[in-house]
Amino acid sequence: MATYSFRLNGRQVSVESWDPAQPLLYVLRGPLALHGPKFGCGLGQCGACTVLVGKTATRSCTLAVRDAAGRDITTLEGLGTPEKPNRVQAAFIAEQAAQCGYCTNGMIMAAVALLSKTPRPNLQQIKQGLAGNLCRCGTHTRILRAVQRASQV
Ligand code: FES
Ligand code: FES
Repeated sequence: MATYSFRLNGRQVSVESWDPAQPLLYVLRGPLALHGPKFGCGLGQCGACTVLVGKTATRSCTLAVRDAAGRDITTLEGLGTPEKPNRVQAAFIAEQAAQCGYCTNGMIMAAVALLSKTPRPNLQQIKQGLAGNLCRCGTHTRILRAVQRASQV
Protein backbone atom coordinates (compact mmCIF):
# COMPACT_ATOMS: atom_id res chain seq x y z
CA MET A 1 0.00 0.00 0.00
CA ALA A 2 1.39 3.40 -0.96
CA THR A 3 1.27 6.57 1.10
CA TYR A 4 0.28 9.91 -0.41
CA SER A 5 1.00 13.21 1.31
CA PHE A 6 -0.45 16.61 0.58
CA ARG A 7 -1.39 19.80 2.30
CA LEU A 8 -5.05 19.80 3.33
CA ASN A 9 -6.74 22.85 4.77
CA GLY A 10 -3.43 24.23 5.91
CA ARG A 11 -1.93 21.13 7.46
CA GLN A 12 0.19 18.32 6.10
CA VAL A 13 -1.63 14.96 5.88
CA SER A 14 -0.72 11.48 4.69
CA VAL A 15 -3.12 8.77 3.57
CA GLU A 16 -2.65 5.20 2.46
CA SER A 17 -4.29 3.78 -0.62
CA TRP A 18 -4.04 0.50 -2.52
CA ASP A 19 -4.94 2.27 -5.73
CA PRO A 20 -3.00 5.29 -7.02
CA ALA A 21 -5.98 6.08 -9.26
CA GLN A 22 -8.39 6.23 -6.33
CA PRO A 23 -10.33 9.49 -6.57
CA LEU A 24 -9.27 12.13 -4.07
CA LEU A 25 -12.96 12.48 -3.18
CA TYR A 26 -13.03 8.96 -1.72
CA VAL A 27 -9.96 9.69 0.38
CA LEU A 28 -11.39 12.98 1.63
CA ARG A 29 -14.77 11.53 2.57
CA GLY A 30 -13.35 8.22 3.83
CA PRO A 31 -10.17 8.20 5.92
CA LEU A 32 -9.97 11.99 6.19
CA ALA A 33 -13.64 12.28 7.24
CA LEU A 34 -14.31 15.53 5.39
CA HIS A 35 -17.88 15.54 4.14
CA GLY A 36 -18.05 18.99 2.55
CA PRO A 37 -17.21 17.60 -0.90
CA LYS A 38 -20.15 15.53 -2.18
CA PHE A 39 -20.39 12.57 -4.50
CA GLY A 40 -22.81 13.58 -7.24
CA CYS A 41 -22.03 12.03 -10.61
CA GLY A 42 -18.51 10.70 -10.07
CA LEU A 43 -17.81 11.67 -13.67
CA GLY A 44 -16.62 15.26 -13.44
CA GLN A 45 -19.95 16.58 -14.68
CA CYS A 46 -21.88 18.09 -11.76
CA GLY A 47 -19.35 19.92 -9.58
CA ALA A 48 -20.68 18.65 -6.24
CA CYS A 49 -17.24 17.31 -5.30
CA THR A 50 -15.33 20.52 -6.01
CA VAL A 51 -12.24 21.39 -3.95
CA LEU A 52 -9.52 23.94 -4.51
CA VAL A 53 -6.14 22.77 -5.74
CA GLY A 54 -4.08 25.85 -5.09
CA LYS A 55 -6.64 28.46 -6.06
CA THR A 56 -8.24 26.47 -8.86
CA ALA A 57 -11.65 24.82 -8.52
CA THR A 58 -11.07 21.13 -9.22
CA ARG A 59 -13.30 18.08 -9.31
CA SER A 60 -12.10 15.71 -6.65
CA CYS A 61 -14.02 12.78 -8.18
CA THR A 62 -11.73 12.78 -11.19
CA LEU A 63 -8.46 13.76 -9.48
CA ALA A 64 -6.44 10.65 -8.63
CA VAL A 65 -4.91 10.56 -5.16
CA ARG A 66 -1.45 10.16 -6.74
CA ASP A 67 -1.99 13.45 -8.58
CA ALA A 68 -3.06 15.19 -5.39
CA ALA A 69 0.24 14.27 -3.74
CA GLY A 70 2.36 17.31 -2.98
CA ARG A 71 -0.47 19.72 -3.79
CA ASP A 72 -2.24 22.29 -1.65
CA ILE A 73 -5.89 21.19 -1.27
CA THR A 74 -8.67 23.20 0.33
CA THR A 75 -12.12 21.82 1.06
CA LEU A 76 -15.24 23.56 2.27
CA GLU A 77 -14.10 22.86 5.84
CA GLY A 78 -10.91 24.82 5.22
CA LEU A 79 -12.70 28.04 4.29
CA GLY A 80 -14.29 28.84 7.62
CA THR A 81 -16.21 27.48 10.57
CA PRO A 82 -19.89 27.69 11.54
CA GLU A 83 -18.84 30.35 14.07
CA LYS A 84 -16.60 32.16 11.61
CA PRO A 85 -17.67 31.44 8.02
CA ASN A 86 -15.71 33.01 5.21
CA ARG A 87 -17.42 35.71 3.17
CA VAL A 88 -18.84 33.33 0.55
CA GLN A 89 -20.19 30.93 3.15
CA ALA A 90 -21.68 33.88 5.07
CA ALA A 91 -23.31 35.22 1.89
CA PHE A 92 -24.89 31.83 1.10
CA ILE A 93 -26.35 31.79 4.60
CA ALA A 94 -27.57 35.38 4.35
CA GLU A 95 -29.26 34.71 1.00
CA GLN A 96 -30.49 31.26 2.11
CA ALA A 97 -29.00 30.00 -1.15
CA ALA A 98 -29.80 26.31 -0.76
CA GLN A 99 -32.74 23.97 -0.90
CA CYS A 100 -31.45 20.40 -0.59
CA GLY A 101 -27.91 21.77 -0.30
CA TYR A 102 -26.29 19.02 -2.30
CA CYS A 103 -24.75 21.41 -4.82
CA THR A 104 -23.79 24.00 -2.22
CA ASN A 105 -20.25 22.74 -1.63
CA GLY A 106 -19.43 23.00 -5.32
CA MET A 107 -21.12 26.35 -5.74
CA ILE A 108 -19.21 27.85 -2.82
CA MET A 109 -15.86 26.42 -3.90
CA ALA A 110 -16.38 27.60 -7.49
CA ALA A 111 -17.37 31.04 -6.19
CA VAL A 112 -14.26 31.24 -4.00
CA ALA A 113 -12.09 30.35 -7.01
CA LEU A 114 -13.89 32.93 -9.14
CA LEU A 115 -13.52 35.72 -6.58
CA SER A 116 -9.83 34.97 -6.09
CA LYS A 117 -9.28 35.64 -9.80
CA THR A 118 -12.03 38.20 -10.39
CA PRO A 119 -12.77 40.07 -7.14
CA ARG A 120 -15.64 42.15 -8.57
CA PRO A 121 -17.34 39.96 -11.16
CA ASN A 122 -20.41 41.14 -13.03
CA LEU A 123 -23.47 38.92 -13.28
CA GLN A 124 -22.34 37.38 -16.55
CA GLN A 125 -18.94 36.53 -15.09
CA ILE A 126 -20.59 34.92 -12.06
CA LYS A 127 -22.81 32.84 -14.33
CA GLN A 128 -19.76 31.79 -16.33
CA GLY A 129 -17.78 31.00 -13.18
CA LEU A 130 -20.53 28.70 -11.90
CA ALA A 131 -21.57 27.30 -15.28
CA GLY A 132 -20.01 23.90 -14.61
CA ASN A 133 -21.89 23.40 -11.36
CA LEU A 134 -25.36 21.89 -11.52
CA CYS A 135 -28.23 22.61 -9.16
CA ARG A 136 -31.23 20.38 -9.54
CA CYS A 137 -33.39 22.34 -7.09
CA GLY A 138 -33.53 25.56 -9.09
CA THR A 139 -31.79 27.69 -6.47
CA HIS A 140 -29.84 29.57 -9.14
CA THR A 141 -31.27 33.02 -8.46
CA ARG A 142 -30.33 32.93 -4.80
CA ILE A 143 -26.93 31.44 -5.54
CA LEU A 144 -26.17 34.28 -7.96
CA ARG A 145 -27.31 36.81 -5.35
CA ALA A 146 -25.08 35.17 -2.75
CA VAL A 147 -22.00 35.42 -4.96
CA GLN A 148 -22.81 39.04 -5.77
CA ARG A 149 -23.16 39.74 -2.05
CA ALA A 150 -19.84 38.05 -1.28
CA SER A 151 -18.12 40.08 -3.99
CA GLN A 152 -19.24 43.31 -2.32
CA VAL A 153 -17.77 42.51 1.10
S1 FES B 1 -19.24 14.19 -8.29
FE1 FES B 1 -17.51 15.13 -9.13
S2 FES B 1 -18.28 16.34 -10.75
FE2 FES B 1 -20.02 15.23 -10.06
S1 FES C 1 -29.91 23.19 -3.68
FE1 FES C 1 -30.42 21.14 -4.26
S2 FES C 1 -29.09 20.71 -5.92
FE2 FES C 1 -28.78 22.81 -5.53
